[in-house]
Amino acid sequence: MSDDPLPPSSPTPAPGRPTVRTAAVIPAAGRGVRLGPGAPKALRALGGTPMLVHAVRAMADSRAVSLVVVVAPPDGAGEVKSLLDAHALPERTDVLVVPGGDSRQESVKRGLDALPEGYDIVLVHDAARPLVPVDTVDAVVEAVRDGAAAVVPALPLADTVKQVEPAAAPGEPEPVVATPDRSRLRAVQTPQGFERATLVRAHETVTDDVTDDAGMVERLGLTVVTVPGHEEAFKVTRPLDLVLAEAVLARRRLNDGF
Ligand code: CTP
Ligand code: MG
Repeated sequence: MSDDPLPPSSPTPAPGRPTVRTAAVIPAAGRGVRLGPGAPKALRALGGTPMLVHAVRAMADSRAVSLVVVVAPPDGAGEVKSLLDAHALPERTDVLVVPGGDSRQESVKRGLDALPEGYDIVLVHDAARPLVPVDTVDAVVEAVRDGAAAVVPALPLADTVKQVEPAAAPGEPEPVVATPDRSRLRAVQTPQGFERATLVRAHETVTDDVTDDAGMVERLGLTVVTVPGHEEAFKVTRPLDLVLAEAVLARRRLNDGF
């Protein structure tokens, strides 16, 4: 035990620095097509608990986060509300549920539109990354508090990456066009953290299709910075990822002495 009065998961505001309130928006409105048929991905169970509940807890575990906005499947906001009511969350965390849209981008926008005044830092976190450790969440918040307009957790790549000329039909050979220098590439995760005003402006002005929110901020010409990501922040995308997620949970239970 240390003498630190706050648990390690609390980014401690520097003396004289005003406390800035942080909200997390969790897009959870996707179907999970690549996971195969079944319930919407965010509602599928991991260790007996819906993936979304893990993701909400992962955000709420950070003492910096005082509001979580869940963006539910368009016709599932009621179901998601009752689900979250049925699972314990820390007292200090408020939860809002809003219906999502057809694209991730649209869903995040709806979450942002629902954000009350008074939250100046926003995290955007995929429900499909249910196991992100709290230290990663705190590192992102800390970097925004330190002045970055946009922050992404990032990891080096294990695989070499090729750029190809996409084939006309799936399964056909594709000519390789280039091999980018792997040492300069990073795989990025969530939560991504933003000054609220910057993220709102990005969503108002950038209309191109993007796969992450930081990409929209890049289009504004602003600098996005990375902090170290974590292997447990992987995205549950395909069936094998569920196997890995169950294994991570089993290892945690073992380590927690259950
Ligand atoms: N998402 C969303 N609204 C959409 C599409 C995606 O809120 N219209 C969310 C998903 O719920 C997920 C996150 O964005 O938490 C990342 O997307 P992804 O992993 O691609 O999930 P899905 O779109 O559900 O999966 P798939 O692409 O396989 O259908
Ligand atoms: Mg998707």
